[in-house]
Amino acid sequence: MKKEVWLCVLLLATVAACKKDSGGGGTTPPPSPPPLVETAPLKSVATFPVAAAGSYGAFMTNATSSAILKRDFNSMTFENEMKNNTIVNASGAYNFNTADAMVAAAQAANIQIHGHVLAWHAQTQGSYYRSFLNAGDPNYNYAKVDSLLKTNIQTIAGHFKGKVRGWDVINEMFSDGPAGTIRNNSNTANANNNDVFVWSEYLGRDLGVKAFTYAADADPAAKLFINDYNLEFSTAKLDSLIAYVAEIRGRGARVDGIGTQMHVNINTNKDAIDNHFKKLAATGLLVHVSELDIGVNTSNAASLVFTDALETAQAEMYNYIITSYMRNVPKAQRYGLTIWGLLDNQSWRYKNGADYPLIYTAAGAKKKAYEAVLNALKSGL
Ligand code: G3I
Repeated sequence: MKKEVWLCVLLLATVAACKKDSGGGGTTPPPSPPPLVETAPLKSVATFPVAAAGSYGAFMTNATSSAILKRDFNSMTFENEMKNNTIVNASGAYNFNTADAMVAAAQAANIQIHGHVLAWHAQTQGSYYRSFLNAGDPNYNYAKVDSLLKTNIQTIAGHFKGKVRGWDVINEMFSDGPAGTIRNNSNTANANNNDVFVWSEYLGRDLGVKAFTYAADADPAAKLFINDYNLEFSTAKLDSLIAYVAEIRGRGARVDGIGTQMHVNINTNKDAIDNHFKKLAATGLLVHVSELDIGVNTSNAASLVFTDALETAQAEMYNYIITSYMRNVPKAQRYGLTIWGLLDNQSWRYKNGADYPLIYTAAGAKKKAYEAVLNALKSGL
């Protein structure tokens, strides 16, 4: 055989071997991610803080997501590390080591921090707090829970005083069914789990005025928020929350803003998105898009092929939401935008490939959604 023919056979054999290996298990390296197209960092084109949620791993140990956070964002929320059951152990002792290390790293990178969260029913040392209760004595329990809440908020918000820009003082106090009612042990799933404690079961609607008062005492300069999900989805929940904020303020406590989490998907109703921003803006308070992520798995299938069409639809929704925020919330009320995570496979919705809700791939490449966010922020609205 001639030399050229041998070369051709060799090439074909190599291609065939590569194809065989692509199922995994072979020695062929995985395809490299598409080259990073350099664009202006998100933070450089925004007129308000742009943030991402980052866990200790995403921010401190994963070089890819850490570099993205430092490049594109000027603010962050710790995904879990300021939550009650990360800081407070089962015996009630406080340990700030992990959060402190993240605070130091954020400060070194000029990244501001939004505190998350002071009073939430989930990820809380529920068994520890319940151990103080006296069954059948609601007055005793009211006073005891009030004192536990006060110690908890003053210790945690006091520790981070001057280091956070704001706090989610109360998170998810409203139940889903019936929408607009406040949480108690009956309407909250797994209310007696070790890591669940429903503060409003014992304090009722007084929870708000107490929590906001304790937080304001502990860190007077921090902006104080109430934060919740499904506000774009349920008018009943949104209206109840807005009325509750007025109630807390009417009783003399300071509430600076409302956080709308926005764990939405590509089919979320656009009129409803606009309307919820309009209602939030009408309060005159700060509005924080606090946990934005956009799912594409609208049928909740166990796994999903992330098609080009889904990626485009997701990008359009990212652009729509940010543009709607800027159109409907006056500049002075825009506390900022926080995307709930960095790489797709770091998202709480990823679940081994069931969804791809963020703006970077697992390899750190910018998705269409990234460009959509950049363009919305650049729009000058
Ligand atoms: O730290 C433990 C680890 O010790 C254990 O081995 C492991 C085994 O499951 O779990 C680890 O805890 C996990 C924790 O994240 C820290 O990684 C929990 O299982 C897991 O449930 C928890 O998920 C977090 C979720 O809140 C809990 O409710 C997500 O990361 C976080 O993104 C998510 O964030 C919430 C916001 O705080 C409030 N709004 C909704 C949003 C999405 O659920």
